[in-house]
Amino acid sequence: KLLKIAVIPGDGIGLEVMPYGVRCLEAAAKVFGLSLEFEHFDFASCDYYEKHGDMLPSDWKETLLKFDAIYFGAVGMPDQVPDHVSLWGSLLKFRREFDQYINLRPCRLMPGVKSPLANKKPGDIDFWVVRENTEGEYSSIGGKIFEGTDRETVVQETVMTRVGVDRVLRYAFNLAQSRPKKKLTSATKSNGISITMPYWDSRVKEMSSSYSDVSVEKYHIDILTAHFVQRPEIFDVVVGSNLFGDIMSDLGPACTGTIGIAPSGNLNPEGKFPSLFEPVHGSAPDIFGKGIANPIGMIWAGQMMLEHFGFSEAAAAVLKSIEIVLGRSDLEVMTADMGGKGNTQTLGEAVEKEILAF
Ligand code: NAI
Ligand code: MG
Repeated sequence: KLLKIAVIPGDGIGLEVMPYGVRCLEAAAKVFGLSLEFEHFDFASCDYYEKHGDMLPSDWKETLLKFDAIYFGAVGMPDQVPDHVSLWGSLLKFRREFDQYINLRPCRLMPGVKSPLANKKPGDIDFWVVRENTEGEYSSIGGKIFEGTDRETVVQETVMTRVGVDRVLRYAFNLAQSRPKKKLTSATKSNGISITMPYWDSRVKEMSSSYSDVSVEKYHIDILTAHFVQRPEIFDVVVGSNLFGDIMSDLGPACTGTIGIAPSGNLNPEGKFPSLFEPVHGSAPDIFGKGIANPIGMIWAGQMMLEHFGFSEAAAAVLKSIEIVLGRSDLEVMTADMGGKGNTQTLGEAVEKEILAF
């Protein structure tokens, strides 16, 4: 099976970590005999914007539709282009136009990485956050009336469709079913939000009847986020609406150490459109140009891509390689965000070498 990958490094440290992401994927391809084809693009960057007056070429959609996956670095250089222009002009267009309705993030404490939570060791934190990525609270339905008067009123509606809710729940149930614990936790707030959230709960209940081997729990989002911090061991797969998922998908990885290692997938599971894999972090202008960015988030995003497309053996090897390198805690290799004296190159090459040794 040939996997066609559009490589878009974007801005800032996206440009610095991407080469190591690609090298690690190439290493996995070599060891496991995979056919990966890469094509590089300079659009979706602020430099492209300064040259062309837009973040993307007009034919971006046709161009990217030829690929199975988009391997994305980061976008945004606030001193060059305002963030809402760069983000809405690129990444958010990809997510929406390619119907990437699942946002998937692992929350996994890695060996050698210190969790900000007390007394946590690898294995204690190992779950997935599945976020609905296209509807819910992030609708554009609403408005403002009586502007500038003391009756000024703003309204923004939450939109939940049966198709939209069911497809994210189905993905989450399937993911839970594929894991040893087989446990799904649903984020709700049906005590306070009295129409949409009870609807969400009813769809969870309905769907759970076709997954009799998956145990289902629900928590209100306020106590659920507290449990992320106090009892992360209880989670396996956690699913939430767009807003709740947004919050959980930042809090979860934050419980597992530096933002520099966290990856994420924006998925169109049916493969009708390309899925996008990226590190959670942004372009980090404060460290850009120094060559010290942590490349693990980028490499791990590539690992998620392999897993998503069914290259399980190669994906397992890349994850293991990351764990081996981090677990050594070699300060000469580790980047500064993990207390090391190494740089993007030392850490990126260490992982690549480990993959090649499989
Ligand atoms: P950021 O994630 O770029 O940086 C936050 C902090 O984490 C900085 O101190 C940075 O040095 C550090 N950091 C981030 N990644 C790191 C890595 N790999 N290794 C070591 N340290 C790392 O978030 P910030 O500063 O809020 O945003 C900067 C720009 O990135 C903005 O233009 C923002 O819009 C954009 N952004 C883009 C995202 C994307 O492309 N998906 C996501 C988040 C922000
Ligand atoms: Mg967020």
